[in-house]
Amino acid sequence: MNIDTVNQPGSVTSALRERVAEAIREAGGWLPFDRFMAIALYEPGLGYYANATPKFGQMPEGVAGQGSDFVTAPELSPLFGHTLARQVAQALAATGTDEVWEFGAGTGALALQLLDALTALGQAPRRYTIVDLSGSLRERQQATLARHADRVVWADRLPAVFDGVVIGNEVLDAMPVQLLRRVGGQDDGTWHERGVALADGVSLAWADRPTALRPPLDIEGPHDYLTEIHPQGEAFVRTLAERLVRGAAFFIDYGFPEAEYYHPQRHMGTLICHRAHRSDDDPLTDLGLKDITAHVNFTGIALAAQDAGMAVLGYTSQGRFLINCGLLEVAKDAGPRENAMLSKLVNEHEMGELFKVIGLAPAPSAEGWDPIGFSAGDRTHRL
Ligand SMILES: C[S@@+](CC[C@H](N)C(=O)[O-])C[C@H]1O[C@@H](n2cnc3c(N)ncnc32)[C@H](O)[C@@H]1O
Repeated sequence: MNIDTVNQPGSVTSALRERVAEAIREAGGWLPFDRFMAIALYEPGLGYYANATPKFGQMPEGVAGQGSDFVTAPELSPLFGHTLARQVAQALAATGTDEVWEFGAGTGALALQLLDALTALGQAPRRYTIVDLSGSLRERQQATLARHADRVVWADRLPAVFDGVVIGNEVLDAMPVQLLRRVGGQDDGTWHERGVALADGVSLAWADRPTALRPPLDIEGPHDYLTEIHPQGEAFVRTLAERLVRGAAFFIDYGFPEAEYYHPQRHMGTLICHRAHRSDDDPLTDLGLKDITAHVNFTGIALAAQDAGMAVLGYTSQGRFLINCGLLEVAKDAGPRENAMLSKLVNEHEMGELFKVIGLAPAPSAEGWDPIGFSAGDRTHRL
């Protein structure tokens, strides 16, 4: 799809809706939500992350109506990546590796920040590999990373075995989730898997089916309950654990441990859409034009990693992690505007507390060093 076609939002939405309708018919009339989400986000040329709309940025308005939808930490301030680079540098040295692998690199902003800072620290990686499902973003990443072109390569999938330090900022939340809905209470309620069907042969509508699937925790209370489970995110971590021989991995994202995730009061789940810096809860409209995301269950991520032989290096809030990595020193010459952005990254009521960082490593690579990012305020015991 070229950008002219994408400039006509209705055409993306109707082509994607037709693709979803076809998938529903092929599946016998009902598509589980995770398959719907995979098409809505990643269908080649059409899905939200596969089409050419701008997505990332600080402003909803852009050139010719092509504004952005949301902002991520590396888009807010380059000092995010410059600070994270200190953790990456330590992990490269401690694990005796010389490669960085970034999943879901967006515009390439974080890669640029990491490469600039690692170079300044005298620890430029031998190779920086970007693994992204999105082909359209790859062009943007190539443009952003032109000055590090000799080190950056792209991969469509992970090799069977590899070494290095893995980074993923806001990647786990973009992986398709399954939706579970309990009708009624803890004792007499029935669980359904929520999917998508065609209401009148054309329009998309929610459709629930009885299921044996359950959230990882019992949900107390007499009320209806809607939530998500994350088999794809957990399978991703298991694959990573099976293939990363030496090194470490750091994932940064919004989410909670499972006791908080499946708290009785969180009865509407965490699924949310973002478009033009506004959020809504209806993924069935404006297909391809808005991001669809769910929070991360970090307990599930930790357990998947441990089941596949990785150790948890640490788990803490983004604010604490960045301070531990030396944000205040990195930002010592920052001006007022930069400081305002940094406050957003660390303040509890902005990104500092909702966003967490989890560190993982193949068991032998976890020995003999303490990652600086978890040096104070490690919350692994809460997972
Ligand atoms: C919310 S964006 C985050 C972009 C960037 N990391 C940032 O912080 O600005 C999510 C990105 O993850 C990518 N993604 C989702 N699932 C992936 C997977 N299994 N492997 C690689 N990339 C993935 C998407 O294509 C998209 O680029």
